[in-house]
Amino acid sequence: MQVIYLVQTFSMFKWFDEVGKQKLYPFVTSHAWKIIYVLIGLFFIPYFIPHASIIELGSYAALSAVPVSVAALLKHRRGSIIASAVLMAGLAVFNAFQFGLSWPQDLLVSWFSGGLGIFIYGFAVGQFSLMRKELAKSHKETEAAHNELLMQHHALMNAYEEVKTIEEEMREVSEAALEANEQLTEMALKDPLTGVYNHRTIYDILQQNCIDSTYFQRPCAVLFFDLDHFKALNDGYGHTVGDQVLKELAELLRENLRMGDNVGRWGGEEFIIILPETDSEAALVIAERIREKVVQHPFTETGSICMTCSIGVAEYPLNGETAADVLNAADQAMYVAKKTGRNKVLSSLDPEVTLYTMHTDKTESRDETLLQGVIIALNALLALRDTDTGSHTSRVSELVYKIAIAMGLNESESRMAAVAGQLHDIGKIGVPDAILLKPGKLTEAEWTIMKLHPQYGEKIIRTIPTLNTIAGAVRSHHERWDGDGYPDKLSDETIPLVARIIAVVDSYDAMISDRPYRKAQTSEFALKEIMNCAGSQFDPKVVEALRSVLRTEIPQLEEAA
Ligand SMILES: [Fe+2]
Repeated sequence: MQVIYLVQTFSMFKWFDEVGKQKLYPFVTSHAWKIIYVLIGLFFIPYFIPHASIIELGSYAALSAVPVSVAALLKHRRGSIIASAVLMAGLAVFNAFQFGLSWPQDLLVSWFSGGLGIFIYGFAVGQFSLMRKELAKSHKETEAAHNELLMQHHALMNAYEEVKTIEEEMREVSEAALEANEQLTEMALKDPLTGVYNHRTIYDILQQNCIDSTYFQRPCAVLFFDLDHFKALNDGYGHTVGDQVLKELAELLRENLRMGDNVGRWGGEEFIIILPETDSEAALVIAERIREKVVQHPFTETGSICMTCSIGVAEYPLNGETAADVLNAADQAMYVAKKTGRNKVLSSLDPEVTLYTMHTDKTESRDETLLQGVIIALNALLALRDTDTGSHTSRVSELVYKIAIAMGLNESESRMAAVAGQLHDIGKIGVPDAILLKPGKLTEAEWTIMKLHPQYGEKIIRTIPTLNTIAGAVRSHHERWDGDGYPDKLSDETIPLVARIIAVVDSYDAMISDRPYRKAQTSEFALKEIMNCAGSQFDPKVVEALRSVLRTEIPQLEEAA
C-alpha cells in the first residue's frame, strides 16, 4: 500500500510557537509542543494508518530523521519514508531524500510544509527522484504482476487446451464405448449370421406378445418355419453356401412381413415368425405368401439354388395357453407338413395335424416317438411268436421304470431302463418255435438254445444306434448276483444295474402271471420269494426298491413284507 502523508508541519509549529507563547506560556513551551507533536507523528498516526511509515522532519525536528527512520523500520517494515523539510532544508533534508532513494521499502510518505519555494526546493533536493523511484518500482511491480498474470494466462490456456484434448479423447472413448455397447446389445439380441432375433430374444418377444394378446383380448399367430432339405444343401454345396442361403432367407422373411411382425432364428434352418393381432386364418395367408416367395427366390449370387419350406401355423390362445404351448403347436404343424410332403403350410387346427397328434404322446420328443414306434414294432414281432411274452414285457417295463426312479436314476435313465425292460426278451425271436412254444419241460440241449436269447437280444438292439446304451442290460438280464447266471456269469455290481432290476422284475412278474402249467401267485407270495433270493439270485438293493415300490402301490403288502 502506498500512502502519501502531507502535513503542514511548519504552520503548525508556527501556530504552536505563537499561540503557545501567548496563551499557554509558560505552561507549555514551544519545544515541549514540538516534542509532543513529533511523538504523535511518530507513534500515533502510524497506528491509525496501517502499513504506513512516517517520518516527519519539521523545521525544528529535522535532526530526528535518523531515529524516526529506525523506529519506522522497526514498526512497519514495508513502509517507505519521505521526509520533506521546511525552514531548515539543508544538508539533513537532502540526506534524508538521498536516504529514501536507497530505501528498500515501497511506501511513499511525503510531507510538505512551508510555501511554494520550499516545495520546489524539496523536488530539487531529491523528492522528485524519490517519487520516480517509487513509480518506477510500482510500474515494475505492475509489469511483473502483468507478466505473472500473462504466464498464468498462458498456463491456464495450456491447461484449457489439455483439458479440451482430454475432453475430446474422453468423448471419443465414450463414443467408442457407446458403439461397443450397442454392438454388444445387438450381439446379445440378434443372430450373428442372419441379423434377425436370436432364439432367446424371439422367445421373449413371443412371451410378451402372449401377455399383450391376453390383455387386449386379441389373437396372436406364430409361424414355425423350416427350410426343406437344408442338410442336403449343406452336404452338397458346403456350409458357406448354406450360410448364404440362410442370410438371403432371413432378408426375404423380413421383406415379406408387416410392420410390427417379428422374425427370429430358432436354430439351424428353423425360424419363428410372430404375427401380433393376427388369427390363424390371416396367418395362413401370410405363411402361404412366404412359402411362395421362398419357392420363387433364386438363392445365392448365381441364383442356381431353389429352396422350399414347410411352415406350421398356430394361434394364441386358441392352440396353446402359454407361449411354449402355442410354439409347440406350430412346431407340430410344421413337423406334420414336413412328414406329409414338405413345401407346405399347415395350421395346427388342420385335421391332418390333429390326426397325427392323436397318435403320438405329446410329452415325448420326435426321436422318442420314433423310438417308441420301433419298440412297439419289435414287441409286436415277439408277440406274434409268443403272446405271453408280449404282455409280460409291457408290465416289466412299467415296474422297471418305477424301481429305477426309486433307486435314484434320473428321468431319462429311467425311461431307457423301461425300454430295456420292454425289449429284454426280444432275442427270443431267434429261438425256434419248437423250443419257444414247447408246452413241456425243455431238454438240456433245448435250454442251451433258449439261453442264447439274451445274446440274440443284444445283437438286435445294437442294430439301433439310439438303443446301444441298453444293449448290455438286455444281454445280462439273466445274470445272477452270486455269479451263477448266464451268459457271462457276471456277479454283483459287475452286472449292469438295469439288468439287475430287470432280473428282479422279470421273476416277480412271472410269478404273479398265469402259466399253462400253474396259476398266478399272489403279490405277497411273489415278493416273499424274491426277498428270499436277495443276496443270492438278486441284488438286495433292487429287492428293497421293489418292496418299497410295491408297498406304496399295494398297501396290504405292508404286513406281508
Ligand atoms: Fe429272458
